[in-house]
Amino acid sequence: MARSIIGGLVSSGWPSKNIFVSDPSKEQRNLLEKQFSITIYENNEKCIRQADIVVLSVKPQVLKQAVESIRTTLVKNNPLIISIVAGIRISDIVKWIGQEVPFVRAMPNTPALVNCGVSGLLANAHANSFHKQSATQVMQAVGQVIWVNTESDIDTVTGISGSGPAYFFKLMEIMINAAQANGLGGTVARTLALQTALGAAKLASKSEHLPGELRRQVTSPGGTTEAALLTMEKHGIDETITLGINDAIKKSAELAKTLGAM
Ligand SMILES: NC(=O)c1ccc[n+]([C@@H]2O[C@H](COP(=O)([O-])OP(=O)(O)OC[C@H]3O[C@@H](n4cnc5c(N)ncnc54)[C@H](OP(=O)(O)O)[C@@H]3O)[C@@H](O)[C@H]2O)c1
Repeated sequence: MARSIIGGLVSSGWPSKNIFVSDPSKEQRNLLEKQFSITIYENNEKCIRQADIVVLSVKPQVLKQAVESIRTTLVKNNPLIISIVAGIRISDIVKWIGQEVPFVRAMPNTPALVNCGVSGLLANAHANSFHKQSATQVMQAVGQVIWVNTESDIDTVTGISGSGPAYFFKLMEIMINAAQANGLGGTVARTLALQTALGAAKLASKSEHLPGELRRQVTSPGGTTEAALLTMEKHGIDETITLGINDAIKKSAELAKTLGAM
C-alpha cells in the first residue's frame, strides 16, 4: 500500500527528493530503491526526523511497536500523522504517542494498487485545514478521497469501500461460473464478466442518473434482465448483501476495540 502511495505521489509530481521511506526488510528496501529515486532508511526514527507528514503503513499488529520507535521525534517535531492502518482508532494511536498531535486516519481500498481507490478520511481536533489539505493530496495519489466525521463512519467506510472490492469480485466469480456452466470457455467467461463490471462502473460514474435508475433503464418489462432480477430478488439479494455489509461494519468496530487495547 505504501509503495502505491509513493508511486502515485511521484507520478502526480511530488519531488522524489522529498519522499523518505523506512522498512526493516532489506528485500523491501532493495525493491523500493530499484523502483523510485527516494531516500530509504532502515531506521524509522532517522527516516522521520525531517518529515512534515508521517504516513504509518504497517500491519495493525506491529503498529504499536512502530509508533513507539518514533514517538519521541513525533512529540518533538509535531508533524501531521496519517495512518492507513486498518482497524486502529486515532485515540488509541495518540495514547501510544502520549501527546495530542495532528492526526488523520485514512481507510483506503485495494484498487489503490492501480490508482483507482477510494479512501475515507477522518481528522482529529488538532488537524487544521492545511493538515487536511495535505492529507487529501497524499491520499489522492491513489484515488478519490472523502472526508467523514466519526470513527463509526470509518467503520462504515470499511464495510462499504474497504471490503467492497471483494463483494464485486464475488459477483464476477459467480458470473464467470454461470457462463462456464452454460457452455462458455474460461477466458471468454472472464472477459465477459470483467468487461461488464468495468463498463457498468464507468457508465454509473459518468451518468447523471443514480445506479437504481440505470438498472430500471436496462430492465425492459418481460425481458431477460427482468427475469434475472426477479429471481435474484425473490431469493433475497437485497437482504443478503445488506446483512453482509452490516456484519463487516460491526466487525470493524469489534476489531478496533481489540486492536486498540494491545
Ligand atoms: N491492502 C489493502 O487493501 C489495505 C486497505 C486498507 C488499509 N490497509 C492497511 O495498510 C497497511 C499496510 O498494508 P499492506 O498490505 O501494504 O501491508 P504490508 O505489505 O505488510 O506492508 C507493510 C510494510 O511495513 C513493514 N514493517 C513491518 N514492521 C515495521 C516497522 N516496525 N517499521 C517500519 N516498517 C515496518 C513491513 O516489512 P516486513 O514485510 O518485513 O514485515 C512491510 O514492508 C495495513 O495496516 C493495512 O491494514 C491495507
